[in-house]
Amino acid sequence: MAMVLPELFAKSNRITTVITQKQLKTYNHLMKWKKNASVLEIGHGEGGNFLKSFYPYLPSDVKEYVATDISESMINYARKNSVLPWMEFGQLDIAAEQVPLEYLNRFDHIFGFFVMHMVRQPRQAFKNLLNILKEDGTIFLTFFKYIPFDVALDRLSKHPEWKQYNPENFMSPYYYSPSPREEWERDLVKAGFQVYELFEDSGIYEHVDENEYDNLFHSTCTIMPSIPENKRKRFWKIYLDSTKNGIYNYVQIRDDRKIFFTNYTMFVATARKIFAEVFLNILEHTTIDEPMDKMLKIPEWKNFGLENSISPYYYSPNPRQEWERNLYETGFRNYEFFEDNGVYEFEDEEFDKFVLSVSVVLPTIPDHKLEYFKQIFRELTRKGEKVHIQQRNGKEIVSFDYKLFTISARKS
Ligand SMILES: C[S@@+](CC[C@H](N)C(=O)[O-])C[C@H]1O[C@@H](n2cnc3c(N)ncnc32)[C@H](O)[C@@H]1O
Repeated sequence: MAMVLPELFAKSNRITTVITQKQLKTYNHLMKWKKNASVLEIGHGEGGNFLKSFYPYLPSDVKEYVATDISESMINYARKNSVLPWMEFGQLDIAAEQVPLEYLNRFDHIFGFFVMHMVRQPRQAFKNLLNILKEDGTIFLTFFKYIPFDVALDRLSKHPEWKQYNPENFMSPYYYSPSPREEWERDLVKAGFQVYELFEDSGIYEHVDENEYDNLFHSTCTIMPSIPENKRKRFWKIYLDSTKNGIYNYVQIRDDRKIFFTNYTMFVATARKIFAEVFLNILEHTTIDEPMDKMLKIPEWKNFGLENSISPYYYSPNPRQEWERNLYETGFRNYEFFEDNGVYEFEDEEFDKFVLSVSVVLPTIPDHKLEYFKQIFRELTRKGEKVHIQQRNGKEIVSFDYKLFTISARKS
């Protein structure tokens, strides 16, 4: 939801500065700055809040600071009025399908003040943030639980004339959810942030006067460009009046003057991109795959869930390919796959005990059939293609030909 009136926003936007200054006092310890950090800001806006609130917290050794916004007019205004020659600017929709390649794995820290509530696909945005971060990089985001104009847009979405402009698409993404907090947390986790903290910060903001209030709501009214020009004046009046008597904004009279208040709850979220590595050993086929498969074909044993004991790709012509496809599809792009063929020797009764101990279906076999089941199972395991039985020094040695996959994968 791009905002397109940078001059008006610059003139009337005191609310994000006042609240950000307050929040940074409480939460700046979460920033854990890296040395010579590369920093990205999303939804930078026209730059006023950055300069007045956040700039004082920037360490002096920052390597680069890239300020971005979805809105071309916002970022052009910010670039033109910037007083810091080392800052870079760029247009970036943080919820885009694909972020520019030059941003991938580049930043140590990403900040976004008052942005995420304007993003309709938060999960996609979090995925992009993860991809843009370097390993061990962090995000720091502040956003409304409900935008102060949500109620007005909700009313208009039910209005016969205005509903055709889809006001609901300009509201905060989880306005209709019983628990926005849970939705945000789910998005963070599903996007791949396993380490995060989400705080709630509530307060009441007092607007300077009615003019500031009106201009602020005008400059943040992202639905306006979708309303036909000849209807805008009428829409604006209805919209503005509706924002003034909602549950988030209210008016009080003080010394014969109207005072405008905004009642807000915000989230302050931090998350870290963690380094994760898995190391797995997987048998291509287990000792019990073949006997379980054979027993499944005997009508008497068909209905005891024996299939649950068979390894997932026993019936595949190429189990390795299946495991690799799984790795890839769950997001592991960096992995190594090794194969090791060998023979494992069991001594004495060890083999029989072992195969029974890994047969997770045993509890499903009725007591009166259990001994019979064990006897058939024992015979079948010993007759397996990969099983060889020999006598050595008076002892029975049972050996099993195995193929072991070893996987080392990195999450990145
Ligand atoms: C309320 S303003 C906040 C600006 C500034 N961060 C501040 O605190 O004053 C929200 C900004 O986020 C931008 N924005 C909205 N959706 C965005 C998206 N998907 N990606 C990047 N920026 C977005 C808007 O264009 C607008 O400039």
